[in-house]
Order: sequence, then structure tokens, then C-alpha cells
Amino acid sequence: MSRSIENHVAIVTGGASGIGFATAQKLKADGARIALLDLNPQGLSEASKRLGEDVLAIETDIRSEASVNAAIAKTIDAFDQIDIVINAAGIAGITGKNATDIPFQNFQDVVAVNLHGSFLISKAVLPHMQKRNYGRILLIASIAGKEGNAGMVSYSASKAGIIGLAKSIGKEYAETGITINSLAPAVIMTPIHDTMPQEQIDYMTERIPMKRCGTLEETASAIRFIVSPENSFTTGFCYDLSGGRATY
Ligand SMILES: NC(=O)c1ccc[n+]([C@@H]2O[C@H](COP(=O)([O-])OP(=O)(O)OC[C@H]3O[C@@H](n4cnc5c(N)ncnc54)[C@H](O)[C@@H]3O)[C@@H](O)[C@H]2O)c1
Repeated sequence: MSRSIENHVAIVTGGASGIGFATAQKLKADGARIALLDLNPQGLSEASKRLGEDVLAIETDIRSEASVNAAIAKTIDAFDQIDIVINAAGIAGITGKNATDIPFQNFQDVVAVNLHGSFLISKAVLPHMQKRNYGRILLIASIAGKEGNAGMVSYSASKAGIIGLAKSIGKEYAETGITINSLAPAVIMTPIHDTMPQEQIDYMTERIPMKRCGTLEETASAIRFIVSPENSFTTGFCYDLSGGRATY
């Protein structure tokens, strides 16, 4: 296996926007072949145009097993293999409210996208990675999953679930060439904050010891290392990207 990611096939969910898109740009610049999966057809089409040639754009609902399986089948048809998966599809749900003011449906919706989606995409790609005894899966969790953010119960619970999911599957595949990790960023300014009350954003940014948000460039660079062949002795881990908020 080459130590570069040139010609690696990378699936990026949530690739139409924010962290997913910035990561797809970074990996493509390093020669990876990209499959962008996202629920938003217009965002997907604009993102794939911006990325340039040879990008496979697949409208996918990460909550649906049938939709995820169909997207993986299309990726295999087009590229024959899957080396890297970055699961960046995610939603915040209602924020700025305590648990007693959150409708159960909203809690379920957030868990469905963030946690069920992480399970479904991992389950769908692992058999393909096993065939070649190689793979890098990175599930984007959040500092909210490590620390628990007040006013973000659905999001925090779903992200804690993702951290546990990566710990568990990481151990299951530890004797293969496949690693499964999660990443816990603090605040990176993207459209996910568009519907959040300013007080919620302030709550999160004030807790960052570096006293600033992370950038998309910092995030994509960290992800680029995590999913590289060089990063071969870490699995089941939750990487930190929080400007010092979590030191564990
Ligand atoms: N931006 C931050 O501060 C931050 C911090 C920690 C964790 N995260 C996580 O990083 C990931 C990316 O977030 P972002 O900030 O880039 O947000 P974003 O809103 O810019 O991008 C999220 C993408 O997910 C897609 N998506 C939503 N529901 C989907 C579904 N059902 N199926 C497929 N795609 C779906 C959206 O269409 C969008 O393109 C999310 O999991 C988010 O929770 C973000």
C-alpha cells in the first residue's frame, strides 16, 4: 500500500458544505478520487462543480440504510474500491433550550442523522474495506460529545454515541488494516451555526482556551493526517480539535 493518498477513493458525507467540503478539497488536491454524499442536491451539484473533474456526487440520506447502501454500490461501480470514509453529515437540531423544552421528535431526528448515519455508513463500507484489508474511517463527532454542552442535549448525546461507536468498531477491526476513529472539533464557523442562537455560539466559543474558533483549513489538515496510511497505529480513538477545551 502506497503511503500517499494519491488515487485513494475517499467518500465524504456531508460533502456539500462546511467541514465535509473543505476536507474533500484537501483530499482531492492530494490526488484522491472523491465521492461526495449529501442530502442537499443543489449544494451537492455546486460543490462537485467547485471541486472539478472526476467527482462522483450522490444524493444520499444518511439516515436511510437503503439510501446509504445504494450510494456505496454506486461508489464501488465507479471506483472499484473504498479506502477512506469521512462521515461529516450532521445536524445540530434545536439548540439554546433545556431538555424539557426539546420535542422528543427533534431528539430522534438529530440522533437519526448523526448517530444512525455513522452506524449505517460504517456498516456499509466495512465489507469493502475488509476485502482489501485496508481502510480509514473517520466519524466526525464533537467536543459536545465529550463535554456535554448545555442547551444542546440532542446533539451532545448523539455525538457521545459516535465516540462510543468508533471505540467499539475500532476494537472489532483492530487486527485488520482498517482503522476507525472519531474527531471532536470545537467551534469551526460553518452553516451549521446559521440556526443557532448567538448565546449558544458564545457559550461554546467562550470555553475555548485559545479564545478563537478553529478554521476549516486546520480541520481539513487534521483530517488529512488521520485518514492517511501513515496514521496506522491509532484506532477507536477520539481525536481532539478543540483549541485546548479538552485535554484528554
Ligand atoms: N462546525 C462546527 O463547529 C462543528 C463542530 C463539531 C462538530 N461538527 C460536526 O461536523 C460535521 C460537519 O458539520 P459542518 O459544520 O460542516 O456543517 P454543515 O451544515 O456546513 O454541513 C453538514 C452537511 O450535512 C448534510 N446533511 C444533513 N443531513 C443529512 C442527511 N440526512 N444525509 C446526508 N447529508 C446530510 C447537509 O446537507 C450539509 O451539507 C457535522 O457532523 C457536525 O456536527 C461541526
